[in-house]
Amino acid sequence: MKSDLAKSYSSFVASLKERFGSQDAMRQAIGAEFDSFGVLERQVLIQYGLRPDHYVIDVGCGSGRLAKPLSQYLQGPYLGIDLVPELLDHARELVERPDWRFELAPGLTIPEKDGAADFVCFFSVFTHLLHEQSYSYLLEAKRVLKPSGKIIFTFLEFAMACHWDVFAANLEEAHREHPLNMFLSRDAVRTWADHLRLRVEAIDDCDNPSVPLSEPLRLDDGRVFHDRASLGQTICVLAMN
Ligand SMILES: C[S@@+](CC[C@H](N)C(=O)[O-])C[C@H]1O[C@@H](n2cnc3c(N)ncnc32)[C@H](O)[C@@H]1O
Repeated sequence: MKSDLAKSYSSFVASLKERFGSQDAMRQAIGAEFDSFGVLERQVLIQYGLRPDHYVIDVGCGSGRLAKPLSQYLQGPYLGIDLVPELLDHARELVERPDWRFELAPGLTIPEKDGAADFVCFFSVFTHLLHEQSYSYLLEAKRVLKPSGKIIFTFLEFAMACHWDVFAANLEEAHREHPLNMFLSRDAVRTWADHLRLRVEAIDDCDNPSVPLSEPLRLDDGRVFHDRASLGQTICVLAMN
């Protein structure tokens, strides 16, 4: 399958750099809420069983939104892969973990041996891929997971009213340089899981404040969440067993 994904995301990052300067562009390139959502993503992993000694593979790791707060919890190994070298450089510098790997995504594959990882996560990544590309990545994620491992990915869906705004913004911003925003449905997710022989452990609504917090979380708009919060995208957890 031909793909111009790298070109599309790289030119998106380049346009952000022109508009906002290098530093801000690195934070904005991965979406909003760099500080708070990174913590939330970490908490999602912990909610579904992440332990400090585990191995996490973060596909589409971007500029280190998850890796930064994760580095305060995870002692075990980490591999972050992404299409955009500048985002990887930013993440590597931000995180300051010489033992962690930040590498260019080789395609729709994961540069790791079979059965190595405890978690493979795709936060806000399938939102930018064609369905066939997401499915190919899930095959890879299954290959690199331990038998006890889990895959966590987030997605946008028309069934959730809170995602309509993303679609509406796409319509308005159709003239701007913007990476693809792809929606997925739960029936597709369940069908994929059947074909992959993976178990759907959970699908959490985008607006359900189900993610347990270890400390109060302040959003950029000043709102503070104390016990639980939601990530804004629907969360899917697939298990090997
Ligand atoms: C919305 S950002 C999310 C970044 C990060 N997961 C987070 O939540 O902060 C999407 C990221 O996926 C990366 N990406 C897009 N397509 C990819 C692919 N095929 N393989 C690896 N990374 C990809 C982009 O470069 C970008 O950094």
